[in-house]
Amino acid sequence: MLVFSTSDKGGTGRSVTSCNIAYRLCLSGRDVAYVDFDFGSPTAGALFEISAMERGTAVGGTHSYLLGECDTAASVDVGTATDRTELKRVGPRSGRLVLFPGDEGGAEFLACDDAIVTRCVELLATLDQEFPVVVVDLSAGRSIALDIVLQATALPQLRRHTARWLIFHRWTRQHILAASGLVYGQHGLLQTGASYGHDSDELLGSLRYVRTAVPDTNSHLSTQRAAQAAWLQEHDAALRRLATANRLGTTAVLGESPIEPVLQYREQLILDSDVNTHIANIETAQAYIELARRLIDIATWERL
Ligand SMILES: Nc1ncnc2c1ncn2[C@@H]1O[C@H](COP(=O)(O)OP(=O)(O)O)[C@@H](O)[C@H]1O
Ligand SMILES: [Mg+2]
Repeated sequence: MLVFSTSDKGGTGRSVTSCNIAYRLCLSGRDVAYVDFDFGSPTAGALFEISAMERGTAVGGTHSYLLGECDTAASVDVGTATDRTELKRVGPRSGRLVLFPGDEGGAEFLACDDAIVTRCVELLATLDQEFPVVVVDLSAGRSIALDIVLQATALPQLRRHTARWLIFHRWTRQHILAASGLVYGQHGLLQTGASYGHDSDELLGSLRYVRTAVPDTNSHLSTQRAAQAAWLQEHDAALRRLATANRLGTTAVLGESPIEPVLQYREQLILDSDVNTHIANIETAQAYIELARRLIDIATWERL
């Protein structure tokens, strides 16, 4: 299964959430490939705490590979290469988590040609055979990265491969409108996809939203003042109405992540050890487990 993670804006929590979903899928026994197609800002190495790849790899990253500058895309086994001790010990029933990093000092593509699309098809087709789940983190917005994979997945070689599209957005007014625009707007995902030969209904059926850093409006432990709590609840209800009006309502949502203090200060995987030591909230780990479960659950993807 090919999973494309995208968002209209940067800073939506797309990479952090995608890495955490990939990690949870690996813990549940699946082999997962994580492909960094956020060419201008390849952060996956940092999220998996691979110090040699904090900002991508020096040789053979995804950008160089697509340009034909190397024959194979660089890859690294996260469990082996990570500096984080607890991440090395994923347990015997876990799958493999393999990172295909971006290029250090890489930049966004300014244009896309047939050769790039062909190489993208080859990479994704090969990975989809080797890994049950392939997560591709795309550059934000109406990027060339999005263009490349929309073209690639419309071609006969990838047509029969299962593809899922995850659109990440924060739980704010602007982010909701931006995410809706990315999907339904001019030159958005649906319009661009259709121009490359995708069936719009099918594309829409394979797309779900992920709301990130959503505040808990029902928290009994909350330190909010009464006026703040009332405002938050009212505001949250207004956002829900806005999301529904913009076709991002509950039925189109894969799930959400709660605001996590650890992630406000540090981009990282939330491990069970972080929860057991009371550093991270258990609700955050549970949210990622649930997102991972729904992602691979066929029932999630029944037509809306
Ligand atoms: N659930 C969350 N709660 C609080 N902060 C979060 C949460 N998820 C992500 N973040 C933070 O938001 C920032 C942007 O996340 P990132 O994944 O880099 O976004 P993107 O890939 O969309 O640019 C990071 O500092 C990250 O740690
Ligand atoms: Mg990112």
